[in-house]
Amino acid sequence: MSTKVKVEHVTKIFGRHPRSVLDKVREGVSKEEILAETGHTVGVYDANFEVEEGEIFVIMGLSGSGKSTLIRCLNLLNRPTEGAILIDGENIVDYNKEQLRELRQNKIAMVFQHFGIITHRSVLGNVEYGLEIKGVPREERQEIARKYIETVGLAGYEDQMPDQLSGGMKQRVGLARALANNPDILLMDEPFSALDPLIRREMHTELLEIQSQLKKTIIFITHDINEAFKIGDRVAVMKDGHIQQIGTPEEILESPANDYIEEFIQDIDRSRVLQAKNVMIKPNILVSLKDGLKLAVKEMERGGISSVFVVDQDRKLQGIVTIDDAIRARQENRTLRDILRKDFETTDPETYLNDLIPKATESTFPIAVVNENNKLIGIVKRVSVLSGLF
Ligand SMILES: Nc1ncnc2c1ncn2[C@@H]1O[C@H](COP(=O)(O)OP(=O)(O)OP(=O)(O)O)[C@@H](O)[C@H]1O
Ligand SMILES: [Mg+2]
Repeated sequence: MSTKVKVEHVTKIFGRHPRSVLDKVREGVSKEEILAETGHTVGVYDANFEVEEGEIFVIMGLSGSGKSTLIRCLNLLNRPTEGAILIDGENIVDYNKEQLRELRQNKIAMVFQHFGIITHRSVLGNVEYGLEIKGVPREERQEIARKYIETVGLAGYEDQMPDQLSGGMKQRVGLARALANNPDILLMDEPFSALDPLIRREMHTELLEIQSQLKKTIIFITHDINEAFKIGDRVAVMKDGHIQQIGTPEEILESPANDYIEEFIQDIDRSRVLQAKNVMIKPNILVSLKDGLKLAVKEMERGGISSVFVVDQDRKLQGIVTIDDAIRARQENRTLRDILRKDFETTDPETYLNDLIPKATESTFPIAVVNENNKLIGIVKRVSVLSGLF
């Protein structure tokens, strides 16, 4: 993976002489005081973060905390008062007009909260708009537009006008239009906030699905912590223009940086945020089918465990053996293969803990986490799932 976007010491102050208040901000004078004393508003102060290629990076915070100000710096809709914004290693703050136009047309696209779609153009007309501006011939651009209309689930609606669409559909048009430009980076400023909860959840699933195919670098803004944790690979939490903490959802849940964040995460249902991959342990005690019984018993002793998963030479999961079965089988001259049990539960790494509760209550064994090739990639202890219930 490589760094796609790097934000270094970015500060954005609104007012007549932004730089004149920089010293005050640095000294720690509060946003309110600066506004009262000087009439300047601190939008963002000293933001620092990197976004990896293919990552979904979420910026979360309450209204007025500086989220839009910050994301608009990333395509220079806002020019930072101070700091650097590197995209693919180039500081775009230094770009001339032509370079900036090129950047906005080809590398970076934005999806807005209030859809931002053109009311007198059809769905197709909206989605092809960016390509039209770029001078892509009609037939070619409409073909591309149709492809992305399908990607966002709007096939059949190409000729409808925006006022014939629901809010969720309009948002899909906005997304298709951004995708049609084939940008590396998608900036999404509260794209789903205007949607009702059910449609919103649908859009989350859709976005994650599209992302798994297209692997864009996405910077996504929300004021909803549940949305942030559901979508974000990593989340930055903002307050009064300052980034308070950056981390994966589980890092933030496990060790909130301060009281503010602690309060924020109070109402979070961990079991709906954490997935199997977040709590699984590395299967460092494993037995291979060819290892045999003696080694299986030894491994269980070494790990202080009463059962162990058995894999083949490709790490594909074959079964589980218990210490009792193994000891008995040795006395009876039976083999590891003879006593392999299959009555354990498996899951894929993306399953939420909440959905693992039935498996954890039914089985007495840990849950095996396997990938699409049935390779064992982790183990979820039952207690990791069930402890959340208390
Ligand atoms: N163009 C502007 N001129 C002056 N002040 C601005 C401007 N844009 C934003 N601000 C101020 O900067 C601060 C951050 O605003 P911003 O719009 O970034 O917040 P936000 O986190 O996106 O909030 P919301 O969730 O309501 O969209 C606010 O205090 C706001 O008043
Ligand atoms: Mg905003």
